[in-house]
Amino acid sequence: MLILGIETSCDETGVALYDTGAGLLGDALHSQVNLHAAYGGVVPELASRDHVQRLLPLLRDLLERTGRRIDEVGLVAYTQGPGLGGALLVGAAVAAGIGLALGRPVVGIHHLEGHLLSPLLADPRPEFPFVALLVSGGHTQLMRVDGVGRYRLLGETQDDAAGEAFDKTATVLGLGYPGGPALARLAEGGDAARFRFPRPMLASGDLDFSFSGLKTAVLTRARALEPLDGTARADLAAGFQAAIVDVLAAKCGAALEREGLDRLVVAGGVGANAALRARLASDMAERGRAVYFPPLRLCTDNGAMIAFAAALRHGGGGEPVEGFAIRPRWELAEAAPPPQSTPLR
Ligand code: KG4
Ligand code: ZN
Repeated sequence: MLILGIETSCDETGVALYDTGAGLLGDALHSQVNLHAAYGGVVPELASRDHVQRLLPLLRDLLERTGRRIDEVGLVAYTQGPGLGGALLVGAAVAAGIGLALGRPVVGIHHLEGHLLSPLLADPRPEFPFVALLVSGGHTQLMRVDGVGRYRLLGETQDDAAGEAFDKTATVLGLGYPGGPALARLAEGGDAARFRFPRPMLASGDLDFSFSGLKTAVLTRARALEPLDGTARADLAAGFQAAIVDVLAAKCGAALEREGLDRLVVAGGVGANAALRARLASDMAERGRAVYFPPLRLCTDNGAMIAFAAALRHGGGGEPVEGFAIRPRWELAEAAPPPQSTPLR
């Protein structure tokens, strides 16, 4: 069955076609980075309007590129939440419109479930069960995953998400939006040993995180060094990144230990961070464990993960819906009763 995935929860418009037999046929993405850059962050109203303008042309391009027709789509999946209300509504409305026009079922997908399952799009694909580190702009969670829809929260951030910490610290260092990738680039040329920042909750004995103090520590240091030269900025960035990578890597190791598992899966935008990838790869190799990442371009928001999650959950079909719903605030635990059967098990 051909599944159309639509992602519009924040500042990326994504569409993808996933075939339950042949796999991912193609995906297309429009990033709103340039649109929001002038404001230093995502402006929700502008995000919604841009999704309205971009979504259908993007879909048309995707159909052309993959040589498929819209009426071949058997199931339409859209990101139902969490995310920005107006932005979610665009994807939900277009999905419902296509479903209505074609007489096909439409299903709402939890954005984090999309991220969580996206490493299964890679080859080799991890077997269940595994520990997942979900690190995005809004979430930092460690989860035990026993199958599709079978998720248990092991620990999470008590304040800022890892991506949020990257973004806020980038602002402190005078970098524009989006901060994470810019900070990572700056850190490449920096000396991580020059400033030793705290490793929050490293020894807390649980699997929770806290990142808001780290940003403050960088801010305090940066103020003391003013005016900041290029080297100091790079060293601050490298010191910050080293601290966050240390904590994430240590907690991943502790989670695997606690659960008696040896497979780690990393998902979400911060999963694109090269320092984090390198560190987890070497940590895991050292202990004979395996780590899986989604393909780099599928780390951040995209339509492929939504189509793919729909394939795993609803590959056998779905119920036609009347109207449509969004859930801007939505816990994954509430969203995830296991499906009746999954093609992967
Ligand atoms: O998953 P995502 O695309 O959107 C959310 O659902 O939040 O994650 C976006 C987050 C942002 O905070 C962004 O700064 C961060 O991921 N990010 C990175 C990198 N690429 C994206 N953080 C650090 N290093 C990167 N290379
Ligand atoms: Zn995301």
